[in-house]
Amino acid sequence: MNISGNTVLITGGATGIGLSIAEEFVKSGNEVIICGRREEKLKEAKAKLPQIATRVCDVSSMKGREELFDWVISKFKNINVLVNNAGVQRMIDFKKGIDELARHENEVDINFTSTIQLSAYFIPLFMQRKESAIINISSGLAFIPLAMMPVYCATKAAVHSFSVSLRHQLKNTPVKVFEVIPPTVDTELDKGTRAQRNMAYRGIPPSDVAVATMKALASDEYECAVEQAKILMEASRFNFAEQFGRMNH
Ligand SMILES: NC(=O)c1ccc[n+]([C@@H]2O[C@H](COP(=O)([O-])OP(=O)(O)OC[C@H]3O[C@@H](n4cnc5c(N)ncnc54)[C@H](OP(=O)(O)O)[C@@H]3O)[C@@H](O)[C@H]2O)c1
Repeated sequence: MNISGNTVLITGGATGIGLSIAEEFVKSGNEVIICGRREEKLKEAKAKLPQIATRVCDVSSMKGREELFDWVISKFKNINVLVNNAGVQRMIDFKKGIDELARHENEVDINFTSTIQLSAYFIPLFMQRKESAIINISSGLAFIPLAMMPVYCATKAAVHSFSVSLRHQLKNTPVKVFEVIPPTVDTELDKGTRAQRNMAYRGIPPSDVAVATMKALASDEYECAVEQAKILMEASRFNFAEQFGRMNH
């Protein structure tokens, strides 16, 4: 697809992978809108990229998603790219029961329901465009789960499955469905695992994911597994038990 001249909404675009993707889209000559819950992070992103538009929003609720959609379509008539990037990752020990689960943000709502509902809002509009795209950010952990973060991995497997079906449903329309599959990336999201393993740094920089994303868009590579994520994707098909054992010993 053409990687310039688009109007792009990136959920969770103020930090990490989303911010790096925003930077790449700006560099390539696109109009970019980012959103997230923390206003200070949106302000920091805007200071770095003054061209972008920002919006405080919470995609975990129906109301937050509906408000975001209404605001975007009222201000950006040409919106034609949605990047479903907002995500949270939690370690949850199910031996501790329901209170442990309830203590955490709802990963299903943020990582998965927001992806499907925002897609449903934007697709009818995107079908009227000459070219448009839904870009879902899943994870290598969609293919081989880390058992200490069971809900996170399940939401990412769901994002993968949803992307496959959506791409099939939309194959005769102008809407292209991309799935970007990052490996471990050095962002805020992974700070729990870094702390647990006493590491200051873990994974590839988010800019690598953003560069791979733009390459995939430009070449219509609909499933873009980045670096180590390719190994997990392959292993899920041919060597699941061994790879799962290695990651969860
Ligand atoms: N880092 C990795 O190793 C890795 C690997 C594979 C896939 N991914 C995926 O990449 C995506 C981006 O994550 P990241 O690594 O870049 O981490 P990150 O820097 O923590 O980015 C996540 C973003 O989502 C936003 N967000 C979270 N909950 C939200 C909500 N309810 N409403 C709106 N925005 C929300 C956060 O902003 P606020 O908190 O301000 O809302 C934050 O800007 C996620 O989907 C993640 O699962 C990451």
